[in-house]
Amino acid sequence: MRAAVAGATGRTGSEVVTELRERGHDALALSREPTDDQRDIGDLAAVLDESDSDALIDFTVPEATVHHATVAAEAGVPLVIGTTGFDEDGLAALTDAAREIPVLRASNFARGVHALREIVQAGVEALPDYDIELTETHHSGKRDAPSGTARTLLDDIDAARGERGERLDRTHGREGKHERDPAEIGVHVRRAGNVRGEHEVLLAGNDELLTLTHRAESRRVFAAGAVDAAEAVAGRPAGEYEFTEVV
Ligand SMILES: NC(=O)c1ccc[n+]([C@@H]2O[C@H](COP(=O)([O-])OP(=O)(O)OC[C@H]3O[C@@H](n4cnc5c(N)ncnc54)[C@H](OP(=O)(O)O)[C@@H]3O)[C@@H](O)[C@H]2O)c1
Repeated sequence: MRAAVAGATGRTGSEVVTELRERGHDALALSREPTDDQRDIGDLAAVLDESDSDALIDFTVPEATVHHATVAAEAGVPLVIGTTGFDEDGLAALTDAAREIPVLRASNFARGVHALREIVQAGVEALPDYDIELTETHHSGKRDAPSGTARTLLDDIDAARGERGERLDRTHGREGKHERDPAEIGVHVRRAGNVRGEHEVLLAGNDELLTLTHRAESRRVFAAGAVDAAEAVAGRPAGEYEFTEVV
């Protein structure tokens, strides 16, 4: 496989380039300020056209990814998106691109997080009246908060509680003099150092406490999942794909 990587100089994109090469794939590293072994991301259309790439893997920023999606759709190149923090217009643009090419977007490419999602849903269903709090921690350079994974977990919890017609109010941090509302879910964001990504869901009630935690120990786990995704969508028909379809 030959894959182009947008964000190849970044914390995660650089790991994607390494993962591709270690698996024996060709990796085209794209950057806004390319070195000798990189290509200029500004020439993305030409690079995709010349290189006959099987996929574009993108770990950049939402506004750049939306543009790259348009270019990939015009070039007919499948797109794997790790970038998080899209607004509704951005998500709609990705859906448009998926009419022309396969698009696989995941807020977290770690297999353990997908297992965590299922375990959290099972826990929420099994413990319907327990208080739920969600805490996530990431490195100080992360731009979006809460993380894309935290938002995904919150949606999963809503879906699990939704079967009883409930949707919890999301309380982002707490201050002041209020008791906890049983109809709320506390969401806590920490940004510090070089933390790769930690997510914890706490369920408490009935004099007991259940904590479900995922901790990424290196960014390689995200890179490996993104390359799995690229291998899986290359050559598939246009449409939106879920990471759970490939793991
Ligand atoms: N889905 C997952 O599993 C997962 C895992 C980790 C991170 N992420 C997400 O992936 C994204 C990147 O995270 P990161 O920690 O790797 O970020 P990072 O280290 O800041 O890297 C960002 C990369 O994006 C490029 N970039 C920034 N603005 C750009 C623009 N306007 N046009 C083109 N390229 C641009 C930068 O390239 P230059 O060298 O040109 O500046 C850099 O290579 C974030 O949204 C993060 O939340 C997702």
